[in-house]
Amino acid sequence: MEKLAIIGGKRLTGEVEISGAKNAAVAMLPATVLIDGICTIDNLPDIKDVNVILEILDFLGAKIERLSPHKVRIDGRTIKSDQPPFELACKIRASYYLIGSLLGRFKEARVPMPGGCNFGTRPIDQHIKGFRSMGANLEIHNGIIDAHAENLFGNSIYLDIVSVGATLNLMFAACLASGTTRIENAAKEPHIVDVANFLNYMGADIKGAGTDVIRITGVEKLSGGEYGIIPDQIEAGTFMIATAATGGEVTIKNVIPKHLEPISAKLQEIGVEITEFDDSLHIRTPHHLTGTNIKTLPYPGFPTDLQPQIVALLSICEGVSVVTESVWDNRFQYIDEIKKMGANIKTDGHSAIIQGVHRLTGAPVKATDLRAGAALAIAGLAAHGRTELSGLESIDRGYSHFEDKIRALGGQIARITVDLKNEIADEIAN
Ligand code: EPZ
Repeated sequence: MEKLAIIGGKRLTGEVEISGAKNAAVAMLPATVLIDGICTIDNLPDIKDVNVILEILDFLGAKIERLSPHKVRIDGRTIKSDQPPFELACKIRASYYLIGSLLGRFKEARVPMPGGCNFGTRPIDQHIKGFRSMGANLEIHNGIIDAHAENLFGNSIYLDIVSVGATLNLMFAACLASGTTRIENAAKEPHIVDVANFLNYMGADIKGAGTDVIRITGVEKLSGGEYGIIPDQIEAGTFMIATAATGGEVTIKNVIPKHLEPISAKLQEIGVEITEFDDSLHIRTPHHLTGTNIKTLPYPGFPTDLQPQIVALLSICEGVSVVTESVWDNRFQYIDEIKKMGANIKTDGHSAIIQGVHRLTGAPVKATDLRAGAALAIAGLAAHGRTELSGLESIDRGYSHFEDKIRALGGQIARITVDLKNEIADEIAN
């Protein structure tokens, strides 16, 4: 089994380059099913979720050419409507984007229910409501979403809850529908705008992405083109927080500072010094950091995908901090793990009450999901002593060369392979 071995206490210093946005890439790739032509996507993050989706596209008949770990050419002219294999689709959340893109192109889709991080229930009722309002019939039998439509027509769809997935999935189905679709109460995340820009480069007619009303006018065909993915807001925020947690000083390159404003604002409240440049940020951390209160919200609020990471930082900031998770029902599972390192945190419903401690202590901990893994690595880097972090499959889903980037900043971190048989034998012997 692989683990990350971390020796805490080293300040992170130097420069780090941020990769392409995971949550843009995992939507853009399924959206290529809509394209009856050739597209090239650049600045792809080198992560497992991207590889899984490329395997699914290959299964559906796309011709895929990996021009580099970060660049792919996809010929969608040979794609057929087929059911993606369960063992691939169930690995990731983003497989559900194939419903919108297969439905949009072929007027039918049979897609296994998606996988993804477990934060409690992750319903898709808003996706289904939207597809049905565009004329599709959808049923869910034995974990398979079965959708088909005589014809997809534009309609006005009000999302009862701001949903990244539903906004994008309905956008996909609307691209080739007849007439205009209005998605109201739409999500406004940077990756929503990025995917809409990608589709417009391919020949779609999408207006208003980044606002809460998006209008999509159906076109005959998407013929293809070239596109480069934006930098990952969440990876950038993760490294900003890791720098602060280790008292470090780091230049974070290849970012869009505007996308990072919610994180910069909160870090500055804590006492971190941040200087913005055109496509980079310089982070400098004074000795004394004080806690603050944070509520996660859809963009432009503080991102839920940085909630575990900021809690790790707040656990060593002076005073009491309260973090309220307003997007997911159950995204505090990692807190039991970080408490093994000495954090003083109590949870009360959707809030975590954090009493800052002077120092955490390294311990064996397990990543409960992708961002929890990053948070525990941050805690290990800030802690005194050795931390062993297991559950790496979740980190590898969403972070490109995570430990290499940390090590390049001076962090003492390495991926180790543990022989479970000996480990269990040692435990039994002791
Ligand atoms: C996307 O998930 C991201 N995943 C998540 O990031 C992120 O946490 C989330 O958006 C919010 O920003 C990907 O993009 C692959 P939602 P998604 O639909 O689309 C409720 C990460 O760490 N809801 O915006 O699944 C839902 O239960 C991952 O990179 C409904 O009730 O999230 C949640 O409470 C983790 N009905 C809220 O809306 C629906 O039909 C937001 O969910 C859909 C959603």
